[in-house]
Amino acid sequence: MNIQEFVKRELGSDNSGHSYLHATRVASLAKMINRKEGGDARIIEAASFLHDCMDSKLFSDIPSQKEKIISVLKTNGYSASSIKTIMDIIEHLSWHIAKREEKPFPYKEGNIVRDADRLEALGAIGILRATEYGASRKRAFYEEEDLKRAKQGLEPISNTTLAHFYEKLLLLEPYFITTEGKRLAKERTDFIRLFLKEFYKETLDQ
Ligand code: ADP
Ligand code: NI
Repeated sequence: MNIQEFVKRELGSDNSGHSYLHATRVASLAKMINRKEGGDARIIEAASFLHDCMDSKLFSDIPSQKEKIISVLKTNGYSASSIKTIMDIIEHLSWHIAKREEKPFPYKEGNIVRDADRLEALGAIGILRATEYGASRKRAFYEEEDLKRAKQGLEPISNTTLAHFYEKLLLLEPYFITTEGKRLAKERTDFIRLFLKEFYKETLDQ
């Protein structure tokens, strides 16, 4: 089985923003970023496609997912040292784990895949994924309380998708590493700011 078929099988039914299509978009963003970075394209492609296949939000048996990933990499001719790098990237990708104390990877392939995955939390796609994720957890996009706070110039603190914009999406931009990642992060964060401006215009200014 090739890597893409494997990912499709593992993530196919996901509806919380981690679909196979997310994996394919991360792979193409990483490929594009890598044009200026000159990293190992095969490592970048495999790590991009596989990065959510052992996420604890999606799978309960992590050791078994890890085994399956290693096995598919072996079947597709990856060497032991490439597999080690790919697993290291996958295990250290998440903002969720790393929060603000994280360090860049000591090799470029990791930073390229991380930047690509992070870009997916921003822009139009980022807004859609957050909404999809919120809906999968039965959360409202916003609550009355959020608007009351906004009128006083305060950020939302409720358990809404809107609050996630302030807890994560608007904080990501300074953590991009690659030149192309930084450029796109600015573009996509600007789009989120514009979206929020319009959102408040439509909900507050009536
Ligand atoms: P990643 O794929 O980078 O590991 P996550 O697994 O943390 O990202 O989240 C997947 C998507 O769901 C991202 O677009 C993220 O912004 C969004 N998301 C994560 N947590 C929440 C939340 N509490 N509310 C709304 N969206 C969320
Ligand atoms: Ni991802």
